[in-house]
Amino acid sequence: EKLEIASGDVELGDFEHYMLKEIFEQPQSIENAMRGRLNLDNATAVFGGLNLTPQELRGVDRILLTACGTSWHAAMVGEYLIEEMARIPVEVEYASELRYRNPPVPRRTLVFGITQSGETADTLAALREMKRKGHPTLAICNVVGSSIAQEADGGIYLHAGPEIGVASTKAYTSQLVVMAMLGLYFGRLNHLSFDQGYRIIRAMQALPDAVRKALTTQDQARKIAEKYQTSNNFLYLGRYFNFPTALEGALKLKEISYIHAEGYPAAELKHGPIALVDENTPSVFIMPQGVVYDKVMSNLQEIKARGGPVIAIASEDDHEIDNYADDVIRIPTVEEFLQPIVSVIPLQFIAYHIALLRGCDVDKPRNLAKSVTVE
Ligand code: G6P
Repeated sequence: EKLEIASGDVELGDFEHYMLKEIFEQPQSIENAMRGRLNLDNATAVFGGLNLTPQELRGVDRILLTACGTSWHAAMVGEYLIEEMARIPVEVEYASELRYRNPPVPRRTLVFGITQSGETADTLAALREMKRKGHPTLAICNVVGSSIAQEADGGIYLHAGPEIGVASTKAYTSQLVVMAMLGLYFGRLNHLSFDQGYRIIRAMQALPDAVRKALTTQDQARKIAEKYQTSNNFLYLGRYFNFPTALEGALKLKEISYIHAEGYPAAELKHGPIALVDENTPSVFIMPQGVVYDKVMSNLQEIKARGGPVIAIASEDDHEIDNYADDVIRIPTVEEFLQPIVSVIPLQFIAYHIALLRGCDVDKPRNLAKSVTVE
């Protein structure tokens, strides 16, 4: 039995679209994803449904994350996060590739399927294939009782509530929260100290407020949308934790406004995409303060020097950026590993408002389905 949620069952309230409503639900959905799962006494994360013994979890040598679409972007953030926090090698595979590619997967590899709907055919098939090979498979899933949730040996629910808009917003940020909690959990099983775990939890607990603040960027995003609504090409650029944010920002724009957009790691610009830059091709730089800030700034200047308009998503305390970017959206300062959860919010708004201005059907974009249950 599949659980289908008809949009009519979920109230729109004061919002014009489900997507906008779901964007604004994020402080709450993030809190729901963390509820009961952050334990300050042991300075670690707690999951009720992994269905593996502590010994089995301690024995995990490798993690394989598989997903499609936006969930695949969450997996990419997960790779950076878990490797950094837990020092466990993480591999990310498109489910559609994994199911036929037959890569060598070493023993003691734990496989996670990440999926909002729990119904994506490729993700289901990839998990089945990994399960058949004898790997423990877990689901990170929003829809309770979905096919993938049932197929997996165990997993983690997002508790984001029904997501109706085809373009994923709140499920994505909840997936990122789960990724951070997994990094914390495996980190604490390995080398992270109590103190380090404690500080990670404190940083995570500050997230809902940071996201609430990030939601105040809507008006700025709308102005940017007005300014650039007729552009037919966009570049999204970021590095390190915000490289996947660039991919996700570009995907949001493509999905709902039908504008061609490419996400790239900022330093890859010079290997091709810079040839696209002209006065009609805006570049969105996701560049909050952090280890790669100066490097991304020089990438930004390369674009400026070639006459490309630049929109920057920058930290609230960045005093330099106004001298270089044409438009700046400021986001609250959070720990670097949590930045993608905050930096994606203005990108969701930009996509939403451009789509609206171009008369697109925001909640039901052409040619797309909320869950892709066929191959
Ligand atoms: C479809 C949706 C996307 C989603 C992807 C994966 O393409 O339109 O928004 O990211 O499927 O869906 P899942 O439910 O597995 O996360």
